Amino acid sequence: MTATKFVLVLAILATAFVVRQEAKCPKTCSLALGSYYVSSSSLGTPLNLTYIASLFQMTPEEILPFNPEIKNKYYIKVGDRVNVNFSCDCIDNSFLGHTFQYIIQKGDTYERVAKTYYANLTSENFLTKINSYSRNSIPSPATINVTVNCSCGDPSISKQYGLFVTYPLQADENSHSVASAFNLSAAVVDKYNRGTSFSSAGDIVYVPTYDQNGSYHPLSSKRRKPGRALIGIVLGVLAMLLSIGFFCYYMANKRRKADNLCLMSRKSKLSLGKVMAKPGYTIDKSVKFSYEELSKATHGFSMANMIGKGGFGSVYYAELRGEKAAIKKMGTKASKEFLAELKVLTNVHHLNLVKLIGYCIQRGLFLIYEYIDNGNLSQHLRSSVQPPLSWANRVQIALDSARGLEYIHEHTLPVYIHRDIKSDNILIDRNYHAKVADFGLTKIKEAESIFLSKNIVGTFGYIPPEYSRGEISPKSDVYAFGVVLFELISAKPAIITNPSCNLSSEAMGLVQLFDDALGKTDLKESLKELIDPRLGDECHDSMLKMIQLAKACTHKEPHSRPSMRFVVVALMTLSSASESWDIGNLFNNNPGIGNLISSQ
Ligand SMILES: Nc1ncnc2c1ncn2[C@@H]1O[C@H](COP(=O)(O)OP(=O)(O)OP(=O)(O)O)[C@@H](O)[C@H]1O
Ligand SMILES: *[C@@H]1O[C@H](CO)[C@@H](O)[C@H](O)[C@H]1NC(C)=O
Ligand SMILES: *[C@@H]1O[C@H](CO)[C@@H](O)[C@H](O)[C@H]1NC(C)=O
Ligand SMILES: *[C@@H]1O[C@H](CO)[C@@H](O)[C@H](O)[C@H]1NC(C)=O
Ligand SMILES: *[C@@H]1O[C@H](CO)[C@@H](O)[C@H](O)[C@H]1NC(C)=O
Ligand SMILES: *[C@@H]1O[C@H](CO)[C@@H](O)[C@H](O)[C@H]1NC(C)=O
Ligand SMILES: *[C@@H]1O[C@H](CO)[C@@H](O)[C@H](O)[C@H]1NC(C)=O
Ligand SMILES: *[C@@H]1O[C@H](CO)[C@@H](O)[C@H](O)[C@H]1NC(C)=O
Repeated sequence: MTATKFVLVLAILATAFVVRQEAKCPKTCSLALGSYYVSSSSLGTPLNLTYIASLFQMTPEEILPFNPEIKNKYYIKVGDRVNVNFSCDCIDNSFLGHTFQYIIQKGDTYERVAKTYYANLTSENFLTKINSYSRNSIPSPATINVTVNCSCGDPSISKQYGLFVTYPLQADENSHSVASAFNLSAAVVDKYNRGTSFSSAGDIVYVPTYDQNGSYHPLSSKRRKPGRALIGIVLGVLAMLLSIGFFCYYMANKRRKADNLCLMSRKSKLSLGKVMAKPGYTIDKSVKFSYEELSKATHGFSMANMIGKGGFGSVYYAELRGEKAAIKKMGTKASKEFLAELKVLTNVHHLNLVKLIGYCIQRGLFLIYEYIDNGNLSQHLRSSVQPPLSWANRVQIALDSARGLEYIHEHTLPVYIHRDIKSDNILIDRNYHAKVADFGLTKIKEAESIFLSKNIVGTFGYIPPEYSRGEISPKSDVYAFGVVLFELISAKPAIITNPSCNLSSEAMGLVQLFDDALGKTDLKESLKELIDPRLGDECHDSMLKMIQLAKACTHKEPHSRPSMRFVVVALMTLSSASESWDIGNLFNNNPGIGNLISSQ
């Protein structure tokens, strides 16, 4: 019965797969370039590579290989062109392009975004078409999609060229000048741009170009027209057979393994033994510890060894096999959280995610992590014992935790949603680098878009509005991360129960507090009241930028929030800028002196 259903679903999936192969898009390619013309900047300062790269969610180092002519990454002349690289994807099943993100600032229009910021790599009409906001009512700040069209070549024209640059024309350019700039004949350029008149500035043409190695990239020679559908069918059938095999194996396994390992209460549907026996469940990478060993290392889980307490258990300090460790002792009721955390951390490894050393399932559930010396972010921001964090430290902590989150959102398979990002779950090491911890509520992102979830989990103050509709997505983590950014700026908790000002004694969210301040006419003055006094009393540019970013992250609508990739690049840009800022302000950032200032 179940098996029949299962096979049916697979058959449908396989058919869908074959049908998908019939999409209208031409063949995609992993590399295309965009030519960014550097005009005299409306931003006042000369454009630099950091700024240009950040428009495309990249760092200068990532685009440098495509720009051998650029000798000085800090200074780019007006009239130069900078190549940016991207993958040429199939958009909406109909045309080739790549979508970048941009955060709308006050006063921005689609026209300005297209013509000034993106140097005509996209157009005003196109932006209006692909974004849900109408031309005259773009909220600010909000994240918009910026799609840049691209080409992967055309076998009916030539098989010699497979790498193209999307090239917006300047007023004085025509097919001859473009061709000679690329060492091509005008005829070749014309052939690839039949619909273009080469008469108006801002028009886009596609020009064959060299790759990083300085050679033309021939069109990959794989035959595809007849092959594509066939491959689809073969893959579909193969997937079906594999899945049936997998299913049978799973069923057999399920019967064979008794619940002997099960520690859970009878009511709990999840059986630890069963889940751990699932194929593909890699747990062998982490070490199994005995209860005796853990008990001995923590002096019988003594109060003196306790370093933290969370919703699901207490955390103890221990020295295990010569390594400093933190042991999380969880009640047997927390089996779901235990398994979630074990599963994520045995599969996902990153410098900015806390490392799991091992586990124990005797007489309770235990997870053993590397010990992070310096406490959590919440303690640093709000305890009077800790010296105040300097602005550079705060930017670094923001960037580190953003990188950890970006990793689970964009670089792991499957993609995970943390669901409990907050300052208590950001741990800080002795060098003031941060690591994201507590994966007990982590979920696998199950669908491309948002899916329904029955139970609301997370921490009050960090929960995004869409949770009330039962929606969750990686953008929920972006929201919570935005709240953490507000905390870094203000050192206030996510929920303020008793605001010092005489408003009311009602609880107030940090997001609301910043929203109100940002709505005031006297912006700098009202923000000043929110900025952590231990940072000195100047609201400098770097802080304003982080506030803008936090505001975008906590946008009501999930799709208007930036991705973590975007956030990482924005913070990198901020961090390289704040280095120079901090040099001029070493005085304010000296912890000792900072204390003096704040105690005045
Ligand atoms: N690896 C570690 N090194 C040092 N301290 C840690 C470590 N892991 C946790 N802690 C401390 O213990 C506290 C609680 O840990 P954690 O948040 O993982 O527990 P939890 O029971 O899952 O809590 P929550 O209610 O947030 O889900 C942390 O805020 C931190 O102060
Ligand atoms: C790069 O340009 C941006 C915008 O013009 C500016 O804010 C930033 O300070 C510049 N960075 C460097 C390193 O020059
Ligand atoms: C551009 O190339 C760099 C390598 O130089 C790569 O790391 C980066 O991901 C590429 N960018 C895009 C958008 O694909
Ligand atoms: C984009 O095109 C417009 C004309 O449509 C032109 O005025 C503007 O200077 C162009 N921008 C850049 C950066 O070349
Ligand atoms: C990109 O391609 C789409 C589909 O062909 C088209 O509608 C759009 O105008 C193009 N965008 C630009 C900026 O040329
Ligand atoms: C940007 O594109 C995504 C994916 O196609 C879409 O969900 C989102 O609504 C778009 N954003 C806007 C502002 O239209
Ligand atoms: C331009 O192309 C010709 C042949 O098509 C080649 O001989 C010449 O070396 C090329 N010049 C440059 C600068 O690449
Ligand atoms: C560039 O050359 C290197 C070494 O010859 C080669 O490994 C690499 O694949 C080439 N890159 C491209 C994009 O062709």
